Amino acid sequence: MAKIVIISPSIRKGRNSHRIALYFFDLIKEMKLSDVEILDLLQYDFPLFNERLKYQDSPSPETIDFSEKIKSADGVIIISPEYNGGPIASLKNAVDLLTDEWRRKPVAFVTVSDGNFGGTQAIVSLQFSLWKLGALTVPSTMRLPNILSTFDEKGTPHDKQTTDKRGINFIRELLWHIEAKRRMS
Ligand SMILES: Cc1cc2nc3c(=O)[nH]c(=O)nc-3n(C[C@H](O)[C@H](O)[C@H](O)COP(=O)(O)O)c2cc1C
Repeated sequence: MAKIVIISPSIRKGRNSHRIALYFFDLIKEMKLSDVEILDLLQYDFPLFNERLKYQDSPSPETIDFSEKIKSADGVIIISPEYNGGPIASLKNAVDLLTDEWRRKPVAFVTVSDGNFGGTQAIVSLQFSLWKLGALTVPSTMRLPNILSTFDEKGTPHDKQTTDKRGINFIRELLWHIEAKRRMS
């Protein structure tokens, strides 16, 4: 079975986007789509990195752990809230930490907001950065607006049937890229 990791990047007190990481975690488990783990940047508590991991003299165990989790994953789902029209800084900090770990890694994007637009602007630079790093960026994205009124704190969607249908299609696109890469390896 493939292994998917979900990056939940918000470190903000009272964060809302973590509920979306919980949603995908539960959906993948419930549908038995793959193995799954959440990489929670609040738990990692990273500093603002002043160098990429491969050039650090004595990287922290947390930093090495994050790198190894990305390296060993078959695919990655990035949950990105939109902050002032771009991805959240804690996410960019973690993306820029790594280099080869991203190369040919299937990566799919979920953008979220508590307003009407669902992070449509954040996706642009985020997808571009991962593409520059050589990731296999999945063209299908999932944009989730109004997450405070559409999901509860545990990540349960109010309209489970419709949300799950979209969510499963989205994950299947990531699984397609994972399988395509497997066949080429
Ligand atoms: C600094 C900051 C900037 C924001 N800028 C935007 C924005 O440009 N577009 C948008 O749709 N929502 C914006 N929001 C609202 C966020 O989408 C919303 O607060 C979301 O819940 C953030 O994720 P988080 O709660 O997990 O940190 C902003 C929120 C913050 C804290």
